[in-house]
Amino acid sequence: MKPSDIPTKDRLIVALDLPGLEQAEAMVARLGDSVTFYKIGYQLAYAGGLPLVRKLADQGKKVFIDLKLHDIGNTVARGVESIARLGATFLTVHAYPQTMKAAVEARAGSNLKILAVTVLTSYDDGDLHAAGYRLGVSDLVEARAQQAQVLGVDGLVCAAEEVASLRKLVGHQMHLVTPGIRPAGAASGDQKRIMTPARAVAAGSDYLVVGRPVVEAADPKAVAEAILAEITPPLAA
Ligand code: C5P
Repeated sequence: MKPSDIPTKDRLIVALDLPGLEQAEAMVARLGDSVTFYKIGYQLAYAGGLPLVRKLADQGKKVFIDLKLHDIGNTVARGVESIARLGATFLTVHAYPQTMKAAVEARAGSNLKILAVTVLTSYDDGDLHAAGYRLGVSDLVEARAQQAQVLGVDGLVCAAEEVASLRKLVGHQMHLVTPGIRPAGAASGDQKRIMTPARAVAAGSDYLVVGRPVVEAADPKAVAEAILAEITPPLAA
């Protein structure tokens, strides 16, 4: 699906960052029809949450598995095949060429799409240097985004403030998925570079990943519906 064809409702991805299956299933039930796309990350996946992928897929929901794979090509490929069989829609891998190539080849013939994480948003130039990298953040993000595109990766996870420049670089075929989204008035938590849902969509983000502002709200469904209402006018513009 081209980014421009994505239904508005599918553009909100709620991060089920919760301690266990019971809490996650209760949250999905509370959100009901308002939310169609969920993200399962380290916390829930390693607490027995992976069976929820198939359950959600069987209910017609989409699931983003955010486990940021990185290993030797053969191991990545076998892992991607297993995840594709769970019925997931998105899977993250770190944007190393061998890893991206193996993941893209292994997802062939399934509905799974591969998203590359270029540089973790908690890294600055000093962190990259300390880890042995020659390039700074912006150059490395750019280089890896171009490699991802050449290798056939389906999308990138990036900060909303990187969307405009990445869009110029990779065009409209790749999905740009942005965490660090905060509705006006919501607590930023540990996110350093935040943007409101409307501004992120207007900047060209295809999917918004929102965790705590929804799952920690007194009325999660109302918050999810308010986010969808907020992004509808900029998408129509
Ligand atoms: O609670 P919050 O809205 O900050 O959650 C954002 C989600 O997106 C979390 O699951 C977090 O792990 C994920 N994420 C992120 N920044 C990245 C990649 C993923 O916040 N660069």
